[in-house]
Amino acid sequence: MNILSLEDFSVEEINEILDSANEFINGKKVDYQGKKVIANLFFEPSTRTHYSFEKAALNLNCKTMNFDEVNSSTKKGESLYDTIKTFEMLGVDGFVIRHTQNAYYNELVGKINVPILNAGDGTGNHPSQSLLDLLTIKRQFGKFEGLKIVIVGDIIHSRVAHSNIKVMQRLGMTVYTSGPEEFREEGYNFVELDKIINEVDIVMLLRVQHERHKSLMEMPLEEYHKKYGLNMERVNKMKEDAIIMHPAPFNRGVEIADDVVECSKSKIFEQMKNGVFVRMAMIQKALEE
Ligand code: CP
Repeated sequence: MNILSLEDFSVEEINEILDSANEFINGKKVDYQGKKVIANLFFEPSTRTHYSFEKAALNLNCKTMNFDEVNSSTKKGESLYDTIKTFEMLGVDGFVIRHTQNAYYNELVGKINVPILNAGDGTGNHPSQSLLDLLTIKRQFGKFEGLKIVIVGDIIHSRVAHSNIKVMQRLGMTVYTSGPEEFREEGYNFVELDKIINEVDIVMLLRVQHERHKSLMEMPLEEYHKKYGLNMERVNKMKEDAIIMHPAPFNRGVEIADDVVECSKSKIFEQMKNGVFVRMAMIQKALEE
């Protein structure tokens, strides 16, 4: 089966994927004995998603192929569909795809007979990131219902925000957004960070995605940090058991102060670790259902 957007999955199915990821954390073993091949095709840069999908596939004893876009026939004009169809004909068993175009998968669904795992589409969806965020939250609080989160920063360009806001609301969380006016999005529950920081269970920071806009935000980075960044002064106002999250990569000294990255409330590196187990659960689900 394809995993393209969490909107395609019920709350029950989402919790099943998280339970499966937890079982992998607790030592569950699944061994495809080198008989399945997962192809990673990244048309946009990635460190965490690419290599944690790769590690997840290796943990399941799958073989992997890593597409090198720069030296591929896309440079001769080959389309996304023809590229993916080619890999299907080569005999791969699963695709992990990241692409700059929102909902790139719409042109593939129904025509590609191998499961597709969406590793991020433009500003649209990032289901594996949302699942690892949810796993991190569930392992911390044991629940979703009633939790409050503020997502701070470049909301409008963030597929992480778009994926998370929708699924977290479905899971019973209250989601606030915060940050500069240029990055706000209609329909989301906007608040000033300093007015909500002492009430929320989770502060999730987002990177300013300079690659997705030219000069939308002219503000100097020091000013951004002062107005919207998470520094220790703000951390000290957070609830005792509240946590800090960031999908990364992060800009130290911009949306997050250097000393906050690894402070006791920060779950940023735990998120990365959880990503491997969530992606193991996703690959198993995609291959078996
Ligand atoms: N969080 C995330 O998607 O990171 P990468 O872009 O490095 O994959």
